Amino acid sequence: MKIKEIYETMEYGPAPENADVAIDFLESHNRKFKLFINGKWIAPSTGEYFESINPSTKEKLANISEANEADVNKAVAAAGKALPEWIKIGAHQRARYLYALARQIQKHSRLFAVLESLDNGKPIRETRDIDIPIVVRHFYHHAGWAQLRDTELKDYKELGVIGQIIPWNFPLMMLSWKIAPAIAMGNTIVLKPAEATSLTALLFAEICQQIGLPNGVVNIITGHGKTGADIVNHKDVNKIAFTGSTEVGKIIRRATAGTGKKLSLELGGKSPFIVFEDADLDSVVEGIVDAIWFNQGQVCCAGSRLLVQESIADKLYKKIRARMGTLRIGNALDKSIDIGAIVDNGQLKVIEEMVQLGVDEGSTLWQSSSTCPKDGYFYPPSLFTDVSPSATIAQEEIFGPVLVAMSFRTHNEAVKLANNTRYGLACSIWTENINLALDIAPQIKAGVAWINCTNVFDAAAGFGGYRESGFGREGGKEGLMEYLKPRIDDNFSDQPLAISTNNSDSSVSQSNPSLGIDRTTKMYIGGKQARPDGGYSTVINSAKGEYIGEVSKGNRKDIRNAVEAAHSNGKWSNMTGHARAQVLYYMAENLMIRREEFASRIVQMTNQTSADALQEVDMSIERIYTYAALADKYDGHVHHTIHRNVTLAMPETLGVMGIMCPDEFPLLGFISTVIPAITMGNNVIVIPSEKLPFSATDFYQILETSDVPAGTVNIVTGRKDELAQVLAMHDDVDAIWYFGNIEGCKEMEFLSADNMKRTWVNYGKYRNWLDKEQGEGKVFLKHASQIKNIWIPYGA
Ligand code: NAI
Ligand code: MG
Repeated sequence: MKIKEIYETMEYGPAPENADVAIDFLESHNRKFKLFINGKWIAPSTGEYFESINPSTKEKLANISEANEADVNKAVAAAGKALPEWIKIGAHQRARYLYALARQIQKHSRLFAVLESLDNGKPIRETRDIDIPIVVRHFYHHAGWAQLRDTELKDYKELGVIGQIIPWNFPLMMLSWKIAPAIAMGNTIVLKPAEATSLTALLFAEICQQIGLPNGVVNIITGHGKTGADIVNHKDVNKIAFTGSTEVGKIIRRATAGTGKKLSLELGGKSPFIVFEDADLDSVVEGIVDAIWFNQGQVCCAGSRLLVQESIADKLYKKIRARMGTLRIGNALDKSIDIGAIVDNGQLKVIEEMVQLGVDEGSTLWQSSSTCPKDGYFYPPSLFTDVSPSATIAQEEIFGPVLVAMSFRTHNEAVKLANNTRYGLACSIWTENINLALDIAPQIKAGVAWINCTNVFDAAAGFGGYRESGFGREGGKEGLMEYLKPRIDDNFSDQPLAISTNNSDSSVSQSNPSLGIDRTTKMYIGGKQARPDGGYSTVINSAKGEYIGEVSKGNRKDIRNAVEAAHSNGKWSNMTGHARAQVLYYMAENLMIRREEFASRIVQMTNQTSADALQEVDMSIERIYTYAALADKYDGHVHHTIHRNVTLAMPETLGVMGIMCPDEFPLLGFISTVIPAITMGNNVIVIPSEKLPFSATDFYQILETSDVPAGTVNIVTGRKDELAQVLAMHDDVDAIWYFGNIEGCKEMEFLSADNMKRTWVNYGKYRNWLDKEQGEGKVFLKHASQIKNIWIPYGA
């Protein structure tokens, strides 16, 4: 091109980044990578390799090992062997290793950035300025947490060997989000990168060698989905951390059900990007570029659904189209391109099919005229307007540079549209009105809310989803918890605490003054006593085999009614912690008044001594006090990130919970599970102890006299496991707590996978509910809530 022509067109020339060092790295392995196990490079036992390509050019970069079960066994064994010493060297030594990793990645940051762009197709500008700096930051931040482990988190211990499976969209970044917190907390790792993008993980393995990380602390295994499944199913892996598709997330949830493996899942999304009419539209347009064209839109939290207030919709669409026209598409190593290549041909086909579907469904497609190079897997930035909220492209993740726009009129409509999705990963809210932004943020069901910004991440803030976007957090102190367990868990017993029965006193079972003539108790649904739909009841006998009375036999329909009642009660979750505390204190007070009555009911069912029964009642009263006390003290955090934001980490309610009470301790088991759940603002459906149900059914008299709003606590009696199944399969139930036998635990986790309910089960381990350390505390509140991180612009 002549200089004159350059001046006329003002075209950018190519500005390729030099790839020599990255190529040298590939050559140093003869472009054939082995597995990194126990600090050494080991050939795969299959002898099989697959290719990794450069999606910008379709050229082959290297051969990658296909690991099988035997290789996974070796890696898990190496991690297991490394564990005791890794624990023993202590917090400070581990901190030094993490710090060394951070330093060394920083030193080789350009190599990592180039290699990542080559392998994945993402623009070098992004890997250089975003991905790798975040990786480095993650290791530094967690070097700090490693150092503070024994002082700040002394009530917790490591989990052991962790299996980690990551996707291709942010290969090294996802690796750092997984490995840094896990090893900082004293665990050892087997990690599998995605098959399309293994290279930076393999370079990271070399960095581990360079800094002298003890052998076996980090093992990197490459391969496809089957290799991932082998890690998931390995019996000596104590936790699985997965990022990827919702589909595979559900497979993993089902595969680990009942095993006791801890699980965190960071899955798909269809995150709303909400623009109100008073927003600064030029900033909005740049926000949209970052939301959906960053990383070619292959971002789990991409702002892929643009919701714009009708009054400004056309104006904004026009601005977006103009900006789309300026985005340059090209080889990922070109420093002056905005959009790189799609990761591989398969993903490109998915995008093409989804876009065609959108057109077929009647939405209007606009694509920028920027030319896509022909030699790689490229796709132009695309905008859909005239989209109906139920259209497939409005509901399903496209995972490409495709924005789907819809308009709304009122604020309420914006919230409804935003929440009209099975996902809940992130949302982005744009308005110059701080009141409006902070009114909307808590109403969106998503784990991250960005106000006047989007796609910002930092190691100090938690990231993760609600609903089918998965559970668990990465980053922040909440992220560390995914790699720890309370020390107290080791004290649980394999058998429920036996209740000592009272052989001498046989007169007491007749003494319950609350027994009327009809001894059939009803259920309690929506603040009213309810007869069972099926019209059946079950006889309950005392521990001595004497008839006490009957309970209603609830069925599927009763559960559905209870779920509906729980949903129609918006009152409880909107109350302040202070207001909820008042209700809880009132409840405790009313229970105190009926202390003897509740005790004799326990004696009647269990044949304990009166003294023991009174102790159970008194502990129940005290427990309600504890949660009343905590109701206005279980605070969130303000995370200090590296950006000009404050990030509020707010505990929010889960929504509607199903609670299967422990079978032992008829009153205390009910109180210990139901009260923390409602303390956090949830509405609950409770299945009381099947054999000892009357303390729970008596309790609705307490609920009725304590200003508990109708629908907050719903009690359905009957066959525990039958009712539990219905709850676990119900799409409008957000969480399940199950205390019972191991088969029940397994079933709950398995059935909960459909809509990704949060589950908390006891895996056949039993708490002593009389012991305060085991029977109450913040861990219960943690399981009854989820954290939303709200990013608010802050500072000069
Ligand atoms: P994927 O979920 O299949 O792959 C993610 C990781 O899981 C990879 O390392 C893969 O090898 C592994 N894996 C696959 N099957 C497994 C199994 N049964 N057990 C254990 N590990 C398994 O995602 P894929 O196929 O790469 O992309 C499919 C779609 O998923 C994309 O089109 C996109 O919509 C979505 N996706 C979402 C991501 C996110 O960050 N939320 C990341 C990647 C993909
Ligand atoms: Mg590749």
